[in-house]
Amino acid sequence: MYPALQKELDTFQRRTPKSAEAHKRNLKRIPLGVASNYRAYDPYPIFVKEGNGSHFRDLDGNDYLDHNLCFGALMAGHCHPAVMKAVGSRLHTGTMFGMPHDMEWELAEEICQRFPIEMLRFGSSGTEATMHAVRLARAATGRDKIIKFEGAYHGLHDSALVSVKPHAPDFGEVAAPTSVPGGLGVPKATLANVAVATFNDLASVELRFKQNPGEIAAIILEPILMNVGLCMPEAGFLEGLRDLATRNAAFLIFDEVKTGAKLGWGGASEYFGVKPDMICLAKSIGGGFPLAAFGTHKSVMDLISQHKVFHGGTYNTNPVSMAAGLATFREVLTRENYRSVEKLSQKLTQGYRSIVRKSGLQAYIASAGANGALMLYPKEISNYRDWTTIDIDLWRLYWFGMVNRGVMPQPYWWDEQWTISVQHTDADIAQHLAAFEDVAPALAKAQQERAETAPVLAAH
Ligand SMILES: Cc1ncc(COP(=O)(O)O)c(C=O)c1O
Repeated sequence: MYPALQKELDTFQRRTPKSAEAHKRNLKRIPLGVASNYRAYDPYPIFVKEGNGSHFRDLDGNDYLDHNLCFGALMAGHCHPAVMKAVGSRLHTGTMFGMPHDMEWELAEEICQRFPIEMLRFGSSGTEATMHAVRLARAATGRDKIIKFEGAYHGLHDSALVSVKPHAPDFGEVAAPTSVPGGLGVPKATLANVAVATFNDLASVELRFKQNPGEIAAIILEPILMNVGLCMPEAGFLEGLRDLATRNAAFLIFDEVKTGAKLGWGGASEYFGVKPDMICLAKSIGGGFPLAAFGTHKSVMDLISQHKVFHGGTYNTNPVSMAAGLATFREVLTRENYRSVEKLSQKLTQGYRSIVRKSGLQAYIASAGANGALMLYPKEISNYRDWTTIDIDLWRLYWFGMVNRGVMPQPYWWDEQWTISVQHTDADIAQHLAAFEDVAPALAKAQQERAETAPVLAAH
């Protein structure tokens, strides 16, 4: 371990004794002491007390500038006034009915005007959105198999939990990656129905269609691979997928759980000019409340209308989440707000680039819309396998170094990225960059030391 990392970990533990204590208590009743495996990290996760705007405070009273924002689900920032007002007015008039109401039509209209879909159904999580989209594609085509990309995350249902974070010995050929279960409990039959391809490699997708003629129902992907930091689609890749899907009468599903609200007003289809057949939305569309949607052409949604495909959910369109969603679409995710977030994003990205250059760190900055990431690689990565070459301790030095300086630069884990909310300010970006300027020399020094000792170690 880098001595500088040990120092940051010591500081972290000195600053956060109440989180350590709370985690210890949680461990007795809750596996890993957290409610989602993604929230667990060593030595223990920060326990949060409260948040407001672009900041949150932990149990020990430390203040953090927040670019984690609930794994990117808070483009609205914490407690956005418009969302709070809309939700507040619903709290005393009934929070769940399991019956239709008039906000459903209003929000469906808002969404269908932005995204290239004709009809949609609502849910509460991204997992639900991608699960129902995949089922609908299977039903509409009468085919069981789907293509997904190695390293991509689409939630927790069986078909999505294939080759999410496979380890090198299980990789298989890059042109035809092995379908690897993302943990125990994923049925073998599921693996047989999920063909895995390599992001930014159209030939690997084409091969899957050739190997499974007339059997692929859909290609599902995040238009920007965001489970590996931030990996952009190369020129022509999305267009190529569009073409392959059309030629093989398969659906192209854009999982826009992250990109839908954060890339721009019209999500990835507007940003890249490529039209998918289905779109899955969640996270930031709810402004801080659980809300999701999946949508497609009317002819496909008719399978639900005709009771051929089943969809339901007790919490669907609960008035609290719907009020939050309406306020989010109308008052948070506005063209004007996208313009101002874009300006902040440019400032943060350019600032990082200049600090990286000055420090001599071997790294680059990837950014798109409200998201970005410090990518600790000598050159741009194009797929999951490239991502696995990261120096994890160097990344941990970055994250703990920033956190100890009051800036949570992104969620913990080097597969994540930062989010800028509509409540972030120029002063926040300046605070973020000042912390990075303080941390960068130690990163460059550690990287240099590793480069100098690596050949010596290899020789032994
Ligand atoms: C691209 C993508 N799809 C789906 C999901 C699953 O969403 P949820 O956690 O709301 O089930 C996530 C969650 O991180 C995601 O990033």
